[in-house]
Amino acid sequence: METKLYDLSKDYAAGIRAGAQELCRGNLVIFPTETVYGIGADATNAEAVAKIYAAKGRPSNNPLIAHIWDMSQVEEIACDISPLAWRLMRKFWPGPFTIVLKSRGVLPKIVSGGLDTIAIRMPASQAARDLLKESGKIVVAPSANISGLPSTTTAQQCLDDFNGKVPLILDGGPSSVGLESTVCSMTGEIPMLLRPGGVTLEMLEEEAGIVEVSYAVLHALQPGEKAESPGMLYKHYSPKAKVCIIEGNRKAIAKTINSMYDIGVKMGKNPCVFCMQDRIDQYLPRHVHSMGQSPEEVAKNLFAALREADKAKIDLIYFEGIEHTGIGLAIANRIIRAAGFDVVNADKEEEIEKHIACMHG
Ligand code: TXA
Ligand code: MG
Repeated sequence: METKLYDLSKDYAAGIRAGAQELCRGNLVIFPTETVYGIGADATNAEAVAKIYAAKGRPSNNPLIAHIWDMSQVEEIACDISPLAWRLMRKFWPGPFTIVLKSRGVLPKIVSGGLDTIAIRMPASQAARDLLKESGKIVVAPSANISGLPSTTTAQQCLDDFNGKVPLILDGGPSSVGLESTVCSMTGEIPMLLRPGGVTLEMLEEEAGIVEVSYAVLHALQPGEKAESPGMLYKHYSPKAKVCIIEGNRKAIAKTINSMYDIGVKMGKNPCVFCMQDRIDQYLPRHVHSMGQSPEEVAKNLFAALREADKAKIDLIYFEGIEHTGIGLAIANRIIRAAGFDVVNADKEEEIEKHIACMHG
């Protein structure tokens, strides 16, 4: 299959029209959103939705998010909606916020992987909204990456993963948030944060008071433990490189990373340190990658940086731990998965020794 690429900065109306046509024909379209790129299909067409799972290599019990452009669409697909759920939707839509509600069961089963709930998001990206509107469809769209790889935030990354596998990619430039939407379940009385994102825990708490945070946000689930969000079970965001997060006090972090890095080099590895711009000096002359000047910039750069590390054949990434406040919680949620939960506290000698012993295999 030939993959067509429309640059929306040059060919906006034609691109949106072509995208809408493909969706209506039951084909896949990759499109930009403010969070990450999505790979979309008509939510009412089970065969079209099946193509998403096939293209991504995604486990079929990992449910999809239904994207809408108008509030009135919520009740077409969801029911038993509490006043607080409505308040959250009004407050955070359009935007990087996905709400899980009780499903009306009108969409094909394949959308929700057999669950009786449905995840819904109204994106803020103008191109995404215009595409949805033009097609007249509710569009299910997971992140546009091969399952297990980092999500995509540019059209080129989408092309790297899906060239020849989808008919159309709409290029809307780099995603502004850079991490997938916040997923919040409102199927119980108290909101439950399933996946942190651009709408932060603090923002949710300000609106809702108490918000529960799913254990899986920062912890590995053990076999047999129930996942509130099936996506949290899977290996995620993984570059080929081994990633390790180093936490603790700032001075100890630099000392630990530098000694681990030097051991890695002696072992013939090609390591790289990922840190904030103002910390680069701590690591020079080693290979170091600036993630940006603020947590927001780190969020925006993260997936591209992981993908570029693979291209540069980096096989060991030392990531400076980041505070779990604001967007920091979402960054931590992603890198902790990229690291396969390998987190070392630089203030604890025994953790450092254990990690170094592991490096020697
Ligand atoms: O920002 C985003 O949300 C992007 C863009 C394209 O909108 N989409 C995205 O989709 O990240 P995906 O499929 O990569 O992640 C959806 C997450 C998964 O972890 C999935 O398990 C969870 O949402 N999810 C979907 N439906 C659910 C449901 N009914 N109950 C609980 N979790 C659900
Ligand atoms: Mg995804």
